[in-house]
Order: sequence, then structure tokens, then C-alpha cells
Amino acid sequence: MSDRVHETHDVVGVGFGPSNLSLAIALEEYRANGVEHEISSLFLERQASFGWHRNMLLPSATMQISFLKDLVTFRNPTSSFSFIAYLHASGRLPQFVNNQDFFPTREEFHQYLEWAQARVADRISYGSEVLSIRLPSGAAPEGADHLRLEVADARGGADRVVRARNVVISTGLVPSMPEGTECDERIWHSSEFLEKYRRINPRELRRVAVAGAGQSAAEIARFLYDELPHAQVYAVIPSYGYSVADDTPFANQIFDPAAVDDYYFGTEQAREAFWRYHRNTNYSVVDDDVIRALYRRSYDDDVRGVRRLEFLNLTRVTGVKREGDETRVSLQEGPDAAVRELNVDALVCATGYDAMEPADLLGDLDRLCLRDEAGRHRVERDYRLVTAPGMRCGIYLQGGTEHTHGLTSSLLSNIAQRSGEIVDSIAARRRLRDVGSTVLAEAGGDLG
Ligand code: FDA
Ligand code: NAP
Repeated sequence: MSDRVHETHDVVGVGFGPSNLSLAIALEEYRANGVEHEISSLFLERQASFGWHRNMLLPSATMQISFLKDLVTFRNPTSSFSFIAYLHASGRLPQFVNNQDFFPTREEFHQYLEWAQARVADRISYGSEVLSIRLPSGAAPEGADHLRLEVADARGGADRVVRARNVVISTGLVPSMPEGTECDERIWHSSEFLEKYRRINPRELRRVAVAGAGQSAAEIARFLYDELPHAQVYAVIPSYGYSVADDTPFANQIFDPAAVDDYYFGTEQAREAFWRYHRNTNYSVVDDDVIRALYRRSYDDDVRGVRRLEFLNLTRVTGVKREGDETRVSLQEGPDAAVRELNVDALVCATGYDAMEPADLLGDLDRLCLRDEAGRHRVERDYRLVTAPGMRCGIYLQGGTEHTHGLTSSLLSNIAQRSGEIVDSIAARRRLRDVGSTVLAEAGGDLG
């Protein structure tokens, strides 16, 4: 890779989904407050244009959080980047209010995100995949005042190097497939659903299976049932039917900004209780309206004496064999865990995601990032990786902090607040650095 350096920025964001979009806006509003030193920034996104889980933009899929948990409102309720400001700009504010609904469609929220990103577009570089983050060659951690990011141009242009005093990694969840199963043109993960579905002639899909009992699985099963009236849809469900996502008011408190402190500063026992009692707010659960929509379809079929939607309860996918056009799915099924095979034209694995893991991007640099007894990254309250003493550059995470900051780590609920906290941290560390080496030494030499 060429060592040509085009730019050095105070902050470089890796990935540009909602988390780093929220950060870009927080930086923009920080600048607009007329502070003395602007914090320069650049955001690198591998997609060719903005896209938020585009392959799951299914008709009628709704948001799972209130529109008030948008990119900004919890940090700055008067921001011009709010969902309400977007509705106003689109001329739909009264109509939206008439709907009396806290949960817009994912399609509408996507339009909001596109509108917001267009307003900070001068700081985003699309088609830019970050390959690695390293110290400059030969530099000691204490000496380096920047990190070096290698960036591939997805549009075929020259690769480049970007320099950053701080990086904010926000590369998102990582799709997870059943063990031993790989994606191809007939085996899809839910994260690639619409793209793969559109490539195939729907008439070829007469038997389709959807594995999983989470929101993705239920939405896809509903979609396939509605779109393919000639097809048999098998829902492969590890539980005894879909379970509801708890979004009742008391349970919802775990997504409040205050819950981050309770989790971060809580005992190991307290953190464990968060998971034990509240995992069902998000994982392997489905919104009530989608459960009822599926049950209704199944019941109406019973009345008509047909069975197009089949629920294989207590069942997991244990493997898949491909032979020609045939896709044979191995299932471990039912109360006695019998093993059987199911022939399908396509299998959709809505089998969830792994958390964001920055180690690959960090390479050798990861050795300077400290870990806890369980081998997980240690993270400061301000979302900065705890690094070896003396390291001046900051590596912040948006995502991958469930073990330190709790359930909101991979969700939208807290992004406005979190982005503000990261900007405050970067600005404070910069002020300290600017004061000079004496103060820097007194502050422990940990400033970027
Ligand atoms: P996100 O995954 O959105 O963005 C990461 C970005 O980084 C991507 O654009 C990716 O292309 C880019 N990237 C990755 N590696 C890169 C690299 N090396 N270089 C450059 N770019 C790179 N949560 C919630 O609170 N409410 C909700 O309604 C929903 N709805 C929802 C629907 C669906 C279908 C899914 C799968 C998930 C949700 N979620 C959710 C959870 C979801 O994690 C959350 O909505 C956001 O996507 C989190 O935003 P991020 O920006 O952190 O990640
Ligand atoms: P998820 O909640 O993690 O669910 C994955 C499901 O796959 C679980 O039921 C899991 O069961 C099952 N599974 C795993 N391996 C399996 C196997 N081998 N065979 C059969 N089933 C298997 O993932 P998700 O539904 O993709 O949701 C991820 C996130 O996206 C959540 O935050 C969700 O709320 C969000 N989401 C939001 C929307 C929306 O906003 N409308 C839409 C979709 C998703 P076990 O738990 O037993 O392993």
C-alpha cells in the first residue's frame, strides 16, 4: 500500500452507520457552539452510499424504539437534526402526529438517516474500507501523536493512508450462521435477505425455511408467506413458539442513559442481573404485533384447511447439504431431539449476530489494549479502550461494549448521549494536550 498521506484528523470514524452519524452530528454541533478549537473529523464507510440494514427494509417493518430516541434528542432536544425536524422539513409533521404512533416504519427512519447524513456529507468518505489501524512504523506508543489507517477504495481507486489522533470504531454487528453452514445463492443470512431474494425468480421458491425465533426470523417468515402465495414456509424455531419482546415501561428503563452508569459502575452480580432479567428485551424475541400477525395467518389457514405456514418448534438447524438445486437442511427436532432432513429451495438463517470485535482491525496495536480476566477489552466509561500507559491516541468504541456498558451497546437507544460523551472526552483530552507538556505530565501522560 502506498504510504502517501493525504490528511490528519482529530477524529476518524471507522464505519458510518447510525452510531457514527450521531457522532458526526455531535461534532458539528460542538463546532457550531463557537468553541475555540474545531475538532476535525473524517468518517470512512465501506458501502458506496448510506445504508442501514438495507436488506431488512421489509414492507411494514417498524422501528423498535421510539422516534424520540433519534440521532440527537436525548443529548440536545433542540437540535435541528432530530426526527421531528426531519418530519417538519418533509412537510409530514401533522400527518405523523395524527398517526399517534411512537414507532415509525424502518423505511421512514431510513429516510430520516439519509436526510441527516446528507447534511454532514463533506466529512464522509463512502466506498472506503478500513483494512487496518496501526501505530506509525517504528513509533513507540508514547511517542506517536497519531494512528495510521490503511483504507481500500471499494470503487477501484487507489488505496490510501489516513492519519488520526483518535479513532472511533463502529463497524456494527457481525452476522452469525449455524455451525458448519455457509452462505451461497440458496442459503442466506437475514442480513443479506432482500438482495438475495431479489436475485431469484420467486416462482422457483416453492419450499422455503426460515431458521430462528428472533425479530428478523419472524419478519422474514411473514414476508415470505405474503409474497409467495404458492409456497410452503417452514419456520424453524428453537423455542416452543415465538416469545414476545418486553418493551413495557419498567423493563424499558434498562435502555435509559442512567442505566449505563448503573451497569458500568455496578458489581459483577448487578451486571449479571441485567442480563438474567432483561435479555428478553432484545435477544431471540419478537414484537407483539408480528407474533399476532403470524398466528393470525396460520389460524386463517387452518380455517381454510390448508397449511402453508409450518412451525417446527424446539428445532435447530444443525447443518446443510447442497446437491445441484437441492438444499437439504439437517434439523434436530422436537421434544425428543430427533434428527431429520428437510428439502427446501432456500434457507434463510435469521440466526442472529456476534458483537462487534475490533481486534482484527487493530492487529499488533491490539496488544497495547488491556483486557480483563475473562479476556475481554477493558473500556473506560467514556468508551475509550484502556491502553498501555503512555499511549496518547484514543481508540473509542461504539458497539462491542456490552460487557462494560450494558445492553444498549449495539442498539440505537443511547447513541445520542454516547456520541456526546465521546465528543466531550475528545475535547477534554485535547484541551489538556494543548495546555502543554507540564500539565500533561501532571495528568499522567495519557493524552492524545
Ligand atoms: P451499523 O451496523 O448500523 O453500521 C456499521 C457500519 O460500518 C456499516 O455501514 C458497515 O458497512 C460499516 N463498516 C463495517 N466494517 C467497516 C470497515 N472495515 N471499514 C469501513 N466501514 C465498515 N436497534 C434499535 O435500537 N432499534 C431498532 O429499531 C433496531 N432495528 C434493527 C433492525 C435490524 C434489521 C437489525 C439487524 C438491527 C437493528 N437494531 C436496532 C440494532 C442495530 O445494531 C442498530 O440499529 C444499529 O445498526 C447500530 O448502529 P451502528 O452504527 O453501531 O452499526
Ligand atoms: P436474535 O434476536 O439474536 O435471534 C437469533 C435467533 O436465531 C434466536 O432465536 C436463536 O436461538 C436462533 N438460532 C441460532 N442458531 C440457530 C440454529 N442453528 N437453528 C435455529 N435457530 C437458531 O437475532 P435477530 O432476530 O437478527 O435480531 C438481532 C437484532 O436486530 C435485535 O436487536 C433485533 O431487535 C433487531 N432487529 C430489529 C428489527 C426491526 O427494527 N424491525 C428487525 C430485525 C431485527 P437461540 O437464542 O436459542 O440460539
